[in-house]
Amino acid sequence: MSATPVSEAIWERAVTVATAEQTHALGSALGGVLERGDLLVLTGELGAGKTTFTQGLGEGLGVRAGVISPTFVLVRIHPNLPNGPRPGGPDLVHVDAYRLASAAEIDDIDLENTMDSSVTVVEWGRERVEHLSDSRLDIEMHRTVGGSDVAVATPEAGQDAVLDFDPEDDDEPRTIVFRGFGPRWSAAPEILENA
Ligand SMILES: Nc1ncnc2c1ncn2[C@@H]1O[C@H](COP(=O)(O)OP(=O)(O)O)[C@@H](O)[C@H]1O
Ligand SMILES: [Mg+2]
Repeated sequence: MSATPVSEAIWERAVTVATAEQTHALGSALGGVLERGDLLVLTGELGAGKTTFTQGLGEGLGVRAGVISPTFVLVRIHPNLPNGPRPGGPDLVHVDAYRLASAAEIDDIDLENTMDSSVTVVEWGRERVEHLSDSRLDIEMHRTVGGSDVAVATPEAGQDAVLDFDPEDDDEPRTIVFRGFGPRWSAAPEILENA
């Protein structure tokens, strides 16, 4: 399956958040409604908030904590907790595809094995992982400066920093654009309608 251009999404919703805590909370709300087999593709420059959002997803899914940036570990699996908010719910598989140049390299890490029992979240996954599922939720995070969005960095534009951290912890607004593809995402989740 080749990647459907983002312009061909079934629906699109842009949400603006003011703080890292709000980004986390939005992730947590979405994590409450995700299902096994869901594929989420996260795009956004270094420090945009991809990992912060994924930490929220993990909380909403009720998986074992410790979602950290997987920069040096390509894949982390967070098992669902029996005493969490969604006992028996999906595990979280968190992937950083930044250093994986192609769909072929993605196939080498065998995400197919965990897809069916998990929610799979891929940072830098655009145009690399779409073939894993007939449906996906594409999530694009922008820093919002002076009321307008800064262009989202692409992997081709380069990610100079070696370490995946941002020394500036000050809260800044972000625009988060959600786009649905495939039968699973034929309609936007309700939590986005009220966000
Ligand atoms: N509105 C916001 N949403 C998310 N993160 C924010 C926001 N405002 C400030 N931040 C800060 O930006 C950084 C985002 O880092 P991270 O989530 O690791 O980004 P990425 O994974 O995209 O590189 C964190 O230090 C976080 O505290
Ligand atoms: Mg990250």
